[in-house]
Amino acid sequence: MGNIILENVSKDYQMGEVKIHAAKEVSFAVKKGELCIILGSSGAGKTTVLNLLGGMERATSGKIFSGGQDITQLTDLELTDYRRYQIGFVFQFYNLIPNLTALENVELAKQVCKSPLEPVNALQIVGLKDRIDNFPAQLSGGQQQRVAIARAICKNPDLLLCDEPTGALDTETGKTVIGVLSDISHKMGKTVIIVTHNSLLAPIANRVIEMKNGSVVANTVQNKPADLEGIKW
Ligand SMILES: Nc1ncnc2c1ncn2[C@@H]1O[C@H](COP(=O)(O)OP(=O)(O)OP(=O)(O)O)[C@@H](O)[C@H]1O
Ligand SMILES: [Mg+2]
Repeated sequence: MGNIILENVSKDYQMGEVKIHAAKEVSFAVKKGELCIILGSSGAGKTTVLNLLGGMERATSGKIFSGGQDITQLTDLELTDYRRYQIGFVFQFYNLIPNLTALENVELAKQVCKSPLEPVNALQIVGLKDRIDNFPAQLSGGQQQRVAIARAICKNPDLLLCDEPTGALDTETGKTVIGVLSDISHKMGKTVIIVTHNSLLAPIANRVIEMKNGSVVANTVQNKPADLEGIKW
């Protein structure tokens, strides 16, 4: 239980006369507690796959199992519950509410889920316990992204989906953020999927999925993921 399985998942977008095949017969699995990195150049279909997994979009065909249920079979209402209770999202731009403090931003997430972590604990996990009363504008980009991660893990989700979480950050700050995400997987046992086009990050993952033109072109398992400290990027 808790595994993610995609079976021949396709997603088409109709744009006027043309049909865009954003995902083509995508199949792969991620085990519970794994850190999975999805790599690929711009337009490869990475965000599409993440949005399908998170229940933000519906597949055109195929099956997507998350924690034992095929989410392609859920009603709209059930899919809303799935998004709300089972998934944490982290985006490239942090989407924090500017006039709420770090703590208040995280507390918001607590209100929409069943067995949340204490917001202060979530902020402690990302190393920001001493900044909980700061507003987003008083925090650096990396700190803001860590608040966004605290908000996502406060929901205590089974699955954490991250779309280019370091896309707006410099190298060193990005490293801190990736360190937090890898701890959430390797130490807290959560399934974490990170979309990035930075292939230098690949060694730290348990599994690397490479996409090209909507298809999976490589699926690599790494039994001994590398330490973040050893990574140069
Ligand atoms: N809502 C949409 N409507 C139409 N086409 C879309 C939509 N979303 C994505 N696409 C198309 O699907 C393809 C895959 O897009 P996707 O956003 O998944 O790529 P990506 O790998 O995340 O790229 P990037 O690294 O630039 O974020 C692209 O050709 C894109 O233009
Ligand atoms: Mg994308």
